[in-house]
Amino acid sequence: VDHPADRPADHPAACPAGAPELFTWEFATDPYPAYAWLREHSPVHRTALPSGVEAWLVTRYADARQALADTRLSKNPAHHAEPAHAKGKTGIPGERKAELMTHLLNIDPPDHTRLRRLVSKAFTPRRVAEFAPRVQELTDRLIDRFIAEGKADLIHDFAFPLPIYAICDLLGVPREDQDDFRDWAGMMIRHGGGPRGGVARSVKKMRGYLAELIHRKRENPGDDLISGLIRASDHGEHLTENEAAAMAFILLFAGFETTVNLIGNGVYALLRNPAQRERLQHSLDAGEGDLLETGIEELLRYDGPVELATWRFATEPLTLGGQDIAAGDPVLVVLAAADRDPERFEDPDTLDLARRDNQHLGYGHGIHYCLGAPLARLEGQTALATLLRRLPDLRLAVESTDLRWRGGLIMRGLRTLPVEFAPRS
Ligand code: HEM
Repeated sequence: VDHPADRPADHPAACPAGAPELFTWEFATDPYPAYAWLREHSPVHRTALPSGVEAWLVTRYADARQALADTRLSKNPAHHAEPAHAKGKTGIPGERKAELMTHLLNIDPPDHTRLRRLVSKAFTPRRVAEFAPRVQELTDRLIDRFIAEGKADLIHDFAFPLPIYAICDLLGVPREDQDDFRDWAGMMIRHGGGPRGGVARSVKKMRGYLAELIHRKRENPGDDLISGLIRASDHGEHLTENEAAAMAFILLFAGFETTVNLIGNGVYALLRNPAQRERLQHSLDAGEGDLLETGIEELLRYDGPVELATWRFATEPLTLGGQDIAAGDPVLVVLAAADRDPERFEDPDTLDLARRDNQHLGYGHGIHYCLGAPLARLEGQTALATLLRRLPDLRLAVESTDLRWRGGLIMRGLRTLPVEFAPRS
């Protein structure tokens, strides 16, 4: 068995000299210099993750794009070569085989193809477009709550609640139950990383709630996404109740923290780049939407919420970027590094909201390409445009060096984003 621990220290994959230290506080604050080093000196880089698991980090755009679409890289954690005793302690979601974990991001074709086709029938771009007025209303209501104060924490008061209420609405979770979801999701985002303690209890409560909701919707269908998931059929095939519950769960999870961080990282990047922000503000005042559209894509490229794509495991030996990878090895595609690759993007470290040639990997690539991208775009565009319109004097209330980043493995986002503005009624 080619297990990481069996590799001799002088294995060609051993850490090259001068490699930056990863997963420190400094790295969480600004990982981009380390990624630039890796792209240049060790583009497919073997490293120990904070959990102790060894994985390959892929940092060049061309390699990243290839890896995301490579059928030899499976999403199923069963292909991970870690010895059995370490399983469940690796921080790899799904290794414990919880029912809710058999979802799109943990499976391969043909199961993935079948489930994705079914969910795509219910979660259509049209459904998202029809949802736009509701997202606007939610956005305004959240701003109404703090606009008279002259200050807010844009993560806690705005970026965090907006996507959770939006997804709950879309799924058909009744309004009176949505604060429970906000609390469960809050527990997971604060203490994320693994199914332990309070997080495990929150997941359990959410699972119980979703199972019961799906049951109710089966009896009494509505116009919501859960009813759509139950109804969706493909060649006479339907989702089972378990599959529908897992699907609702992944929609919540894939669509929640990502959008929090799209808004948080996006507003922060605008506040740090006043000329770009001013340009966007002018174009919004003039009633133009183009810069907002390209701008959201650029914010995703420049400092997107998904730093590393989710886990992949080699099903057979393969070579990527000139590096041999053994069967069973985990591979993590570093979207944040690929999207700053100077081989692909001109001036990659510059925020240019009008950037046109911008095929970034922020939503992934290939068969697992983000299913929720239309919703994320809608929420991101509405949130940013409304903030800039209603609070044109928005500014950071602390030094940017005082801000703390979460430092999770997959996601990149701020813990808090304190801002000030003139109080308004
Ligand atoms: C997949 C990013 C919002 C649902 C993905 C992947 C990325 C991503 C990078 C691919 C992961 C991989 O290949 O390992 C984002 C970003 C978002 C966002 C940056 C916000 C700015 C959403 C929303 C939803 C959603 C709002 C749904 C409500 C999904 C689902 C998948 C996915 C279901 C799995 C698709 C599959 O495996 O076929 N997302 N996402 N995402 N996303 Fe998103």
